[in-house]
Amino acid sequence: MLNFATDIAREAGNLLVQRLGVAKVTTKGDINLVTEADIAAENLIIERIRSYYPQHGILAEESGEAILVSGKRSQWKWIIDPLDGTTNYAHAYPCFCVSIALEHNGVLEVGVVYDPMRDEMFAAERGQGATLNDRKIRVSSVEQLSAAMVCTGFPYNVRERPDFARDFTNFTMEAQAVRRDGSAALDLAYVACGRFDGFWEDGLSPWDIAAGALLITEARGKMTNFNNEPLDIYTEKVLGSNGLIHDAMLKVLTR
Ligand code: IPD
Ligand code: CA
Ligand code: CA
Repeated sequence: MLNFATDIAREAGNLLVQRLGVAKVTTKGDINLVTEADIAAENLIIERIRSYYPQHGILAEESGEAILVSGKRSQWKWIIDPLDGTTNYAHAYPCFCVSIALEHNGVLEVGVVYDPMRDEMFAAERGQGATLNDRKIRVSSVEQLSAAMVCTGFPYNVRERPDFARDFTNFTMEAQAVRRDGSAALDLAYVACGRFDGFWEDGLSPWDIAAGALLITEARGKMTNFNNEPLDIYTEKVLGSNGLIHDAMLKVLTR
């Protein structure tokens, strides 16, 4: 199933690259965009899953949830963000990815994040570790927040939630550097491979989080909510880190 997930992520990623700069953009909210490419990539992924695993459930950003198979709930659920980083994509800013995860009875089994611009495939299977282009990856060994590069994102309702600015300011004062890249799934993958030391965001959806969460835990990092409880991907507050700066990040978030 991991190979199946990487194959469809690559196929969808290539489709995104082909349409970069030409896909039509529409708005689904004030600043929340959707492009023809989101829809086309999602359709491609769903079509492949439907033909290989017709009994499996699917939760996909643009189509919503279709978990009832033959009238009963499937034990398997694919969680899909066909294009994470839509605003970047709409501006041809080359920071976006495809994110695909598979849950079995509520437990994440497979997670794949593919960046088609750099041809980087991040992949993880529960208990088997995480890889980047088939090479094992691990979180960083940075121990102090003052030496850490951390990243965050702003949800689409940011204008109604000015609180984000307080955390952003506090991290800017305490970390070595703060980034806002615009693709939560890719940000989490970067924590898994040690490029970022930590990531936080309040306002995410399961398709933003699922694959990246498995990547981080399989790369020996830590994923929690802002109360230091084990992460539930169906809640909005997400903190992922190398584990070593986790408490320091929590302190900033609960100040
Ligand atoms: C968004 C991106 C962004 C994050 C938003 C997400 P989308 O997903 O991951 O970085 O800050 O909260 O909704 O709309 O580009 O798939
Ligand atoms: Ca997303
Ligand atoms: Ca998306």
